[in-house]
Amino acid sequence: MKMRCSRWIKNIALTWLLCNGLVEAGSQEDQGSTEKTEVRKRDLGLGVFPRGDCLFRHSTSVLGLFARLLCSDEGKGDCEEVLKSPVETYKPNGVYDLRPDSNAALFALCDMDEGGWTIIQQRVNGKTDFSSDWEDYKLGFGEMNENEDFWLGNENIWRLTNAVTTREPYTLRIELTSVGKEKRFAEYSYFRIENEANKYRLNISNYSGNAGDAMHTYNGMDFSTNYDHGLFDSCSASYRSGGWWFNQYCHANLNGVYKPGTGYNGIVWDTWPEAMDTISEVRMMIRRKD
Ligand SMILES: *[C@@H]1O[C@H](CO)[C@@H](O)[C@H](O)[C@H]1NC(C)=O
Ligand SMILES: *[C@@H]1O[C@H](CO)[C@@H](O)[C@H](O)[C@H]1NC(C)=O
Repeated sequence: MKMRCSRWIKNIALTWLLCNGLVEAGSQEDQGSTEKTEVRKRDLGLGVFPRGDCLFRHSTSVLGLFARLLCSDEGKGDCEEVLKSPVETYKPNGVYDLRPDSNAALFALCDMDEGGWTIIQQRVNGKTDFSSDWEDYKLGFGEMNENEDFWLGNENIWRLTNAVTTREPYTLRIELTSVGKEKRFAEYSYFRIENEANKYRLNISNYSGNAGDAMHTYNGMDFSTNYDHGLFDSCSASYRSGGWWFNQYCHANLNGVYKPGTGYNGIVWDTWPEAMDTISEVRMMIRRKD
């Protein structure tokens, strides 16, 4: 195992060199024979490792594929497991290759600074249109990067939250920032969605935080998009935009139209009324309850 993982690190280094056009990478020292795998940032020159982006982009290259295959026995199912895996290497925020189950790799943006959260949604600049259909919400869209907007995809969220049911459930953490840079959060210490056949039905409970429990009426709701139905006329058109576990109330929709500070904003979290129409940043992320 140690042998294989140190080879994996070596291949990450090789992939990095490849990405940066330094293909004559043959001089990397073999770390495989050392008793304790101890590969540090300076050893591999990873100080300028582009936060996983290059590795991600080149993941279909032979080296990227090789690097992934070599570490497949580690079973790192989410960002927290990547962070806590015994391989001592530099683990910056960025996109990582996760294996929550035996299916294909799942790429997700990891927040490593705060203990390894797997980010499932992010709104930071409004460049990505969230008025997407079922298929887009299923597979995910946007740009997975710390400075961009994206939805990880219901299929991926389902895979993550249902992978090992014998372990602790996932906590969902929602972070909201207003135009005035005030930050609030809501956490749910039980979060899981069902599969597509069950409309990615939401199972959420056990709120804590200071943003208020705007999800209190959503437990057990099916996922839907504004293309799937014209229901819920009690809510405004902007509320109904995007995809969410919509119901007849209008308490929350973090995938609505992004127009903070204009007096019209489809990003709704109505238990923080002072931030109505002014939520400028949202992050939804998960980590196993510990
Ligand atoms: C709800 O939260 C409390 C306090 O954090 C915890 O003791 C309890 O186990 C949680 N319940 C569920 C269902 O997650
Ligand atoms: C959520 O999951 C728990 C545990 O499987 C189950 O008992 C509960 O009925 C589910 N709730 C909803 C609303 O689906």
